[in-house]
Amino acid sequence: MTKRIALVTGGMGGIGTAICKTLAESGHIVVTTYSKPGREQAWHADMKGFGFTDIHSYLCDVTDTAACREMVAKIARDIGPVGILVNNAGITRDGTFKKQTKEDWDAVIRTNLDSVFNMTKPVLDGMLEAGFGRIVNISSINGQKGQFGQVNYSAAKAGMHGFTMALAQEVARKGITVNTISPGYIATEMVMAVPEDVRNKIIAQIPVGRLGKPEEIAALVNFLCSDQAGFITGANVAMNGGQHMM
Ligand code: CAA
Repeated sequence: MTKRIALVTGGMGGIGTAICKTLAESGHIVVTTYSKPGREQAWHADMKGFGFTDIHSYLCDVTDTAACREMVAKIARDIGPVGILVNNAGITRDGTFKKQTKEDWDAVIRTNLDSVFNMTKPVLDGMLEAGFGRIVNISSINGQKGQFGQVNYSAAKAGMHGFTMALAQEVARKGITVNTISPGYIATEMVMAVPEDVRNKIIAQIPVGRLGKPEEIAALVNFLCSDQAGFITGANVAMNGGQHMM
């Protein structure tokens, strides 16, 4: 295993934390972004408790193109060039389209889709120079099938995979892979925020009969970021308990 610098956006959230831990377990130097100051000290203390000491974090608004560029330059100065990028930061602003506002639309498109441009752009040159890179975009089952109440989110998540497929073709001969993972409903705060009655109806539609675990998504991220996964590119790998089969 080659030790690399892995940058995970939104790495202090439910799926993000599991991704950081798994990549750290694999021996990588993990760097995460966080958007709101407040819980980073407790998060780092937790990580230390698990025995992970080489985990770094940077306050960065992933919707801000210049801030992302500056942060990647700072990581290069402080630690080194990013070899693995996991675009994981995401939010929801659910509601029927009739009720959705332009603010809801902008917030979701900027955080979930513009962020992918903002982060990938500054790390790509270094990957091209190194002749190696792994980019994993965390999309959603709802980008594949659409979801009542998630016009904004479904549009952003589907857009992420368009980005994946196009960039994958451009960098395939340079040792860089670009892939999408489309998780189904995973037991995180985001899913627990769905009203209980609605959530129970969704769980009833999952053939495996339960929500997914963040660690299950993290294991897949870890594989796609490994040297052995060099022949997988432009893929959209679903992990949804059978809720949506393509
Ligand atoms: N399909 C068809 N009709 C539906 C429906 C559905 N899935 N859900 C609700 N409706 C109907 C209701 O029965 C209601 O009909 P009537 O007006 O005839 O009574 C109408 O649509 C309006 O429904 P609500 O009153 O419930 O509308 P609301 O605006 O209060 O709530 C909602 C809508 C916020 C979208 C709510 O249904 C909801 O939270 N849905 C879940 C959305 C979801 O899955 N979010 C995922 C979050 S987690 C995530 O995003 C991670 C990931 O990647 C998987």
